[in-house]
Amino acid sequence: MTDRRIAALLTLLAENATIVVSGARIAREIGVSRSTVWRWVNRLRELGVRVKGEQHTGYFLEKVPDILTPDMLRQRLKGSLFGKRIHHFFKVDSTNRVALELGHAGEPEGAVVLAEEQTAGRGRAGHAWHSERATGIYATLLLRPHLAPVQAPLLTMMAGLSAHTAIQAQTGLNVDLKWPNDLLIRGKKVGGILTEMHAEPAQIRFVIVGIGLNVNQEKFPAELTAIATSLRVESGKPQSRLELLVRLLREFENDYNRFLTEGAERVTTRFAATSSYAQGKRVRVTNGKDSFAGVTAGLAPEGLLLVKRESGQIVTVIAGDITEDK
Ligand code: BTN
Repeated sequence: MTDRRIAALLTLLAENATIVVSGARIAREIGVSRSTVWRWVNRLRELGVRVKGEQHTGYFLEKVPDILTPDMLRQRLKGSLFGKRIHHFFKVDSTNRVALELGHAGEPEGAVVLAEEQTAGRGRAGHAWHSERATGIYATLLLRPHLAPVQAPLLTMMAGLSAHTAIQAQTGLNVDLKWPNDLLIRGKKVGGILTEMHAEPAQIRFVIVGIGLNVNQEKFPAELTAIATSLRVESGKPQSRLELLVRLLREFENDYNRFLTEGAERVTTRFAATSSYAQGKRVRVTNGKDSFAGVTAGLAPEGLLLVKRESGQIVTVIAGDITEDK
């Protein structure tokens, strides 16, 4: 609720960009006290929004910020599946956690959960997802496809392809995909997908696709420096998160509709053509305590990775960590 009202404050300032709006008018229009307006202005400042002014002078925005507020996104996503129900948080534990809760509560397909910051962002295999404030894209999409649960991993790969296309279109950077869910630039991770679902044995009830992209981070915590990068680091300039998210959601919608009507083959073919890991890459596959080396040998129709061991045996990898074996 508070998040929605702070977003309303931001929209009000953005609509009057560079014009001073009195604290009294803001307080009246949003329905809070002037001191609350002051507190929220300071929260926006903490998020990097450049709001000038004081309680007695009124406030104005120096520059329209790159915050992913529902109002700004809705305007850009008219007619899109993802432009209808946007849940935006300035700070939340995990957008996947929220989306799962919404899914169970009957929220319709197409809902998007966004956060400027996550305090317990979830990564694959129980890892945490570093979610620095207002620098990355932390988004979860809720879908209710008529698919069998075995097809859910294809949605993860499809999301990777949508993100790949969106990033390349916006930045021109060369992005690689690592099966099943990593986006890499020069071998470092720039994004990841975490799909979770609620299903019956033969039918998905709903699936949530969580997408994390490192966009404007300038540096990472020490333990991630060697393995993570951002679009800003790689392109040498800040990137608009709003632009990128709009592109990503449009790509995703197009890919999703085609997946539902045309089937899985387009996803596996595109993934195989895009990922340097799909074919002929020397890798090590680790699953819990087990690990083996081999050379990747394409994808099975359901999107599982095939790896040829030295013995010549072809193993179908259902889950596991893939690392390049140099
Ligand atoms: C991975 O380990 O590569 C997957 C990372 C997925 C992170 C995203 S950020 C938005 C969404 N909410 C979460 O808690 N996780 C996903």
